[in-house]
Amino acid sequence: MADLLVLGIESTCDETSAAVVARSPSGAGQIRSNVVRSQVEIHSPYGGVVPEIAARAHVEILDHVIAEAMRQANVSYQELSAVAGAAGPGLIGGVIVGITTAKAIALAARKPLVAVNHLEAHALTARLTDGVAFPYLLLLVSGGHTQLLAVEDVGRYTRLGTTLDDAVGEAFDKVAKMLSLPYPGGPEVEKQAAQGDARRFAFPRPMMGRREPDFSLSGLKTAVRLEAERLAPLSEQDVADLCASFQAAVLDLLADRVRAGAKAFRDRLGRGPTALVVAGGVAANTPIRESLVRVAADLNTRLALPTRDLCTDNGAMIAWAGAERFALGMTDDLTVSPRARWPLDPAAAASPHARA
Ligand code: KG4
Ligand code: ZN
Repeated sequence: MADLLVLGIESTCDETSAAVVARSPSGAGQIRSNVVRSQVEIHSPYGGVVPEIAARAHVEILDHVIAEAMRQANVSYQELSAVAGAAGPGLIGGVIVGITTAKAIALAARKPLVAVNHLEAHALTARLTDGVAFPYLLLLVSGGHTQLLAVEDVGRYTRLGTTLDDAVGEAFDKVAKMLSLPYPGGPEVEKQAAQGDARRFAFPRPMMGRREPDFSLSGLKTAVRLEAERLAPLSEQDVADLCASFQAAVLDLLADRVRAGAKAFRDRLGRGPTALVVAGGVAANTPIRESLVRVAADLNTRLALPTRDLCTDNGAMIAWAGAERFALGMTDDLTVSPRARWPLDPAAAASPHARA
């Protein structure tokens, strides 16, 4: 059997991306191209992603991004096995642009369509990069999602825990905003924290020690705001110290929540995970990466941490999830609808604090 070749399209938030990925019959993956155009500069004057502007920007450049991905991969549309598009969850205007384009290409090239869940794509990336086997424990930490999941198979996810309020990336972005740091806030807070004293402020670590592997960030975020208001006007050192103390609290609570997640995994599946997999934009943070190396070692499990460019949103993860689904015969017809919300674990979605 020949390798599968899948084109993937991502446009659910503020990156416009297309990629071609190959999957061998043994399940090994290879990225042939991964073109990512960030809209950060377009949104930065507004201090956050403006959905309508994002959708228009996707329309303007998506065709070029796809053409470039196909050129770099040096494949023709006829050589593709399938076309994959992220059908949600995300900002609905952008999702419509991406999945409609995927449908049009599938129709014109007479290729099967795979409608991919963006979260599933984050979840499966470690199989592309590290060949991780099921079942594994996934920590998904992005701007919109903070969850611990048991990834049991393609299409089989159990949500073990989630945030009761803000996502971790959202907390980074809000802390940056209250300290007047540029958007997107995560990398700025990380930069400031490197110059600061993490012991200056003893911020709360909500949910630490709890058995259920859930998260809560809003109390921590409020503590940072109150301290910033008390100190105002802030010196450069104040800003750095606030960032360092905030990030130290996030490190501690992530480590503790992952440990609780590993216990919940074992209780549920009757065995430990093959690996701890981390995905989502926050996994680009170096101190967080370093701390998770120690957590995985303590848990006696392998750590799979995709490179930074594959942790943040990209087309390769959509193409790969499309290839994994296609290999199992899972395709979608052209009537598939874009979805603003699309939880990975439908059972968990019915619970009171579901966000995805
Ligand atoms: O996965 P992603 O690219 O987009 C989605 O939310 O789906 O994640 C973006 C989030 C933003 O909240 C951003 O501030 C955060 O990831 N982020 C970081 C870092 N780089 C990106 N947070 C902390 N430290 C970083 N270095
Ligand atoms: Zn994402």
